[in-house]
Amino acid sequence: MRSLLFVPGDSPRKLDKGIASGADALLLDLEDAVAPDNKPKAREVVREYLAAHIGKPERPRLFVRVNALDTGMTDDDLDVVMPARPDGILFPKSQHGGDVIHLDAKITAREALYDIHEGATRILVIATESAQAMFGLQNYRGASKRLDGMTWGAEDLSADLGAETNRNERGDYTDPYRLARAQCLIAAVAAEVAPIDSIYPNFRDAEGLKREALEGRRDGFIGKMAIHPDQVPVINEIYTPNADSIAKAERLIDAFKAAGNAGVISLDGQMYDQPHLKRAQRLLARVKK
Ligand code: COA
Ligand code: MG
Repeated sequence: MRSLLFVPGDSPRKLDKGIASGADALLLDLEDAVAPDNKPKAREVVREYLAAHIGKPERPRLFVRVNALDTGMTDDDLDVVMPARPDGILFPKSQHGGDVIHLDAKITAREALYDIHEGATRILVIATESAQAMFGLQNYRGASKRLDGMTWGAEDLSADLGAETNRNERGDYTDPYRLARAQCLIAAVAAEVAPIDSIYPNFRDAEGLKREALEGRRDGFIGKMAIHPDQVPVINEIYTPNADSIAKAERLIDAFKAAGNAGVISLDGQMYDQPHLKRAQRLLARVKK
């Protein structure tokens, strides 16, 4: 999944636009983009939307962002949307792997109830939304077989920290958010799930988005979340492995084979060993998906 577009769950108009946006996944939001009084309506809108689209062969993957465990609303969200079989749940404000175990149990119960194949409903987690959550990043590995990806958020973290802003005059993240981003990337790789970069909120600034997406790709993220349809093509382009990088990866893998699967080889005057081989294999695996 290269691009994951947030769509407020109470807006049929945006939901219609979302399906045609070209995003690899839609994040149907019941949480921060929906006002408290509108939650019941949003659940129904999202359920109907899922029912209308989930059976279609050509469609983005459909995830629902539920409300956090400590709101007391997670069960109500799941009760309404699970019968419509979303591809997965985007889980906000997770504090540690134990929260994912908790969510997994809630999903497992509903899969049994609604005759959904056990494990079919996937989980993506937003893992850095509070100071405490930053210390829970190390124990997501093995928390749930459903866990497919980890992402991070700067907005809620900056609220928790009492920060005036999370970006400097040049528009770059300040240190606490750079730490959260890097820790999330590392935690996801350690948990053997996909690292997904956070949103770029200034949706009229295509250049800034491009710069940030390129930085994410450079560092190892495999995709990025979006908040506006205009951001989707930019993210898709940057996160689609290009012909040049595919050719380079294939050439490297071939060179290792030609050297009798040696541990280390030289190619064009550069040293390549196992981490380089692994990176090339991972890139090709992503292309085949
Ligand atoms: N998904 C689908 N469609 C969207 C969209 C989104 N996230 N954001 C905007 N659109 C639609 C608009 O409805 C509009 O279509 P219309 O002219 O047919 O009504 C079109 O795209 C252009 O939108 P634009 O006028 O440029 O923006 P806006 O002022 O309507 O909306 C936001 C700006 C930020 C309110 C909107 O992009 C949004 O709701 N984003 C998602 C917010 C969210 O989910 N936040 C939680 C996660 S951080
Ligand atoms: Mg939030």
